[in-house]
Amino acid sequence: MDILKIKGGVALEGKVKAAGAKNAITKLLVASLLSDRRCTFYNVPNIAEVEVTLDLCREIGSEVHWDRTEGVIEIVTKELKTTYVPQRFSGSNRIPILMIGALLGRTDQDVIVPTAGGCKIGKRPIDFHIQSLEKLGAQIEFREMKKEGAYFARAHQGLKGTLIQLPYPSVGATENTILAASRAKGTTIIKNAAIEPEIIDLILFLQKLGVIITVDDDRTIHIQQSHQFFDVEHQVITDRIEVASFGMAAVSTKGKVFVEGAQHQHMMTFLNKMREVGAGFSIKNNGIEFYYNGPLKGGLHIETDVHPGFMTDWQQPFVVLLTQAHGYSVMHETVYENRFGYTETLKLMGADVQLFTQCLGGKECRFSSHNYQHSLIVKGLCSLSSRDIAIPDLRAGFAYVMAALLAPETSNISGVHYLDRGYENLVNKLTSLGADVVRTAFNSKEKVDASAKIAPVIAGLK
Ligand code: EPZ
Repeated sequence: MDILKIKGGVALEGKVKAAGAKNAITKLLVASLLSDRRCTFYNVPNIAEVEVTLDLCREIGSEVHWDRTEGVIEIVTKELKTTYVPQRFSGSNRIPILMIGALLGRTDQDVIVPTAGGCKIGKRPIDFHIQSLEKLGAQIEFREMKKEGAYFARAHQGLKGTLIQLPYPSVGATENTILAASRAKGTTIIKNAAIEPEIIDLILFLQKLGVIITVDDDRTIHIQQSHQFFDVEHQVITDRIEVASFGMAAVSTKGKVFVEGAQHQHMMTFLNKMREVGAGFSIKNNGIEFYYNGPLKGGLHIETDVHPGFMTDWQQPFVVLLTQAHGYSVMHETVYENRFGYTETLKLMGADVQLFTQCLGGKECRFSSHNYQHSLIVKGLCSLSSRDIAIPDLRAGFAYVMAALLAPETSNISGVHYLDRGYENLVNKLTSLGADVVRTAFNSKEKVDASAKIAPVIAGLK
């Protein structure tokens, strides 16, 4: 139960190194379970999501060595110890459901996984995953268990390649289908697939592992069953969400930050919006420098979308950035139906934000005929004031950190474990940029007082 104490009003200046992508490495670790070959991953972020995923892999039978300082993981799964993912992983993140795709081709046992968790930003069903896996020959049923239900999946006749048309380019459903198809007989074609950079990273890894796999430029992925697997060495791509987060924090605080390792091609949509808002950036050989380039201009219209659109995970800190831009801007969230909950606290801090159920601007999205508040108008320039804040989910968490960095007094932020899931060394990185941030145990004062009283007693006993 730690909290962050952030005293804002400081322009962030300096250099940070971006970590490997959470949403790539967690899937790569699951993909390593497809075979008994040794996989070595470099540029692995030291974050809680990796810990949870490794815990899950060990449960299944993986031997793991993680050098956290060097950011290297070696993983090998000679045999599956079990195909039952225990209930304690329920709700932890979105990874357990991918175990179906990764394990079904390697076993004739039932694969049992608990319900998927992750940030509460919408209903997040898994119907597309189930439909695709069933088309490949899996039988999947949901059974009530003691505390909550679990999915029981089996493919006693083996998986068989087929044509799969996804109703929406879901990241998770695409990954699950690719994993299952890698061991399904023959060829699988996935149409309307997600093509996020993290998925391309997974595809590159699978090619090294032995899968024959191609991506067409119309969201079609072809996968041919692999008959032979190979040891793999793989460099995880840089986290484009972390890169953008530091970029926005730099510009909104009127500072200048070089984000080492930022990969230009993964940031293009984001950089276009940064240009529109008047932020400065300069692409260097080994990263991107973000800097304040004079007053920020509102008037933006942003729609979050699947890649290559504007990422839904950039949305929350961008709204904070827009509070510092003169004029009205529109944000239309088309990926998740419930990803604006964090704006309530922003409003209490002084942000001028209004939510709407209509699709504002551009196109009608999947949520147009529902009553979800999924569009907003933000009016800048707002002075934000400090307050005590509880983080509801990972990306909202960084938005709050940014808001606190802009508010002149001290904000106390709880729910830091959400940030630990996806941001490596956040406090150290921010501090190195000059931010006034301290991480402390929730009741640290009482604990310090208690140990101060106990110490002389222990000394007397010696
Ligand atoms: C991944 O979630 C990421 N998580 C999310 O990042 C990211 O926001 C999201 O992709 C979109 O880029 C991980 O990679 C672990 P989806 P995922 O399946 O795979 C609907 C972060 O903070 N849908 O592309 O769960 C779903 O409800 C996290 O790092 C169905 O309806 O996302 C949503 O509206 C948050 N049925 C939309 O599709 C399904 O079977 C996109 O979901 C599957 C999805």
